Amino acid sequence: SDLKVGICIYKFNDYFMTLYREELKSYLMSQYGIAEGNITIMDSKGDQEEQNTQIDNFLSHDVDVLILNLVQASAAESIVNQCKEAGVPVVFINREPEESELKRWADEAIAAAYVGADAEQSGTFQGEIILETPNKGDFNGDGVVSYAMIMGDPETVDAQYRTEFSIKALEDGGMKTEKLFEQHGDWDQTRGQELAASALAQYGDKLEVIFCNNDAMALGALQAIEAAGRTVNKDIYLVGVDALVEVVENVMNDKMTGTVFNDYFGQAHKAADVALDFVNGKDVDNVYMVDYVKVTAENASEILELIK
Ligand code: GAL
Repeated sequence: SDLKVGICIYKFNDYFMTLYREELKSYLMSQYGIAEGNITIMDSKGDQEEQNTQIDNFLSHDVDVLILNLVQASAAESIVNQCKEAGVPVVFINREPEESELKRWADEAIAAAYVGADAEQSGTFQGEIILETPNKGDFNGDGVVSYAMIMGDPETVDAQYRTEFSIKALEDGGMKTEKLFEQHGDWDQTRGQELAASALAQYGDKLEVIFCNNDAMALGALQAIEAAGRTVNKDIYLVGVDALVEVVENVMNDKMTGTVFNDYFGQAHKAADVALDFVNGKDVDNVYMVDYVKVTAENASEILELIK
């Protein structure tokens, strides 16, 4: 219980990372008996400079281990070097550093690890959800799925791979695709609503699917779809990622087509386990990936039980 854990979250104003951070804290307390006062969680406010200052501060106050949700994944290298110098192990979560950097930790036996989920898999599942609909995403029967893509922060692997692999899955499933619209909504519900409204105004009935890189933006897109007088699953499909409670309920009630469960329980628990393994001198791998789960009307009620 004397152990001191320093945690930075890229920004508190993010729906999914809020669930993640709450689970991380409660698991560290319940599973490892760490005192609440010894777990410090900082809001990096979307600013890497600010996060660097928070990390400096943690290191000068002798934390035993750091758990970091980077603002910019490219910052990993210098932070790892700084932690190594200070003799403090570090576990990165959610925002995946570059592969060469992950490899360096293994090659140089550095006490650093990444716990995340395979972004390609989440994109593939999104594409498969559309393929599993009665018309495979092609409402007007012209043989082409005409879609809008609402992206998260373009610097993250999650946004890049979800965008790429959702469409790849559709094409691998034999569909032709046409991108009508693609813009960054930075994981934010209001931005998702604004962008979907603008895509709907520009392309009207031509638009058959709206892909959102996460559920917060998909909830915004749903508002725009309803405001435009369109109906999900009747004349347009809508899919997100994360499996927020409200979204899973919408999927159950035929108001959204599907989502992909981004398992923050599994990720938070693994991150804490790895952090404690480092502290206790156990053998630790450098990369851990937690599986995503496809969510459609078929299994939405099971998933809801898991997350509620
Ligand atoms: C993603 C998640 C998004 C957002 C992002 C932050 O994995 O799907 O909702 O939280 O992480 O990096």
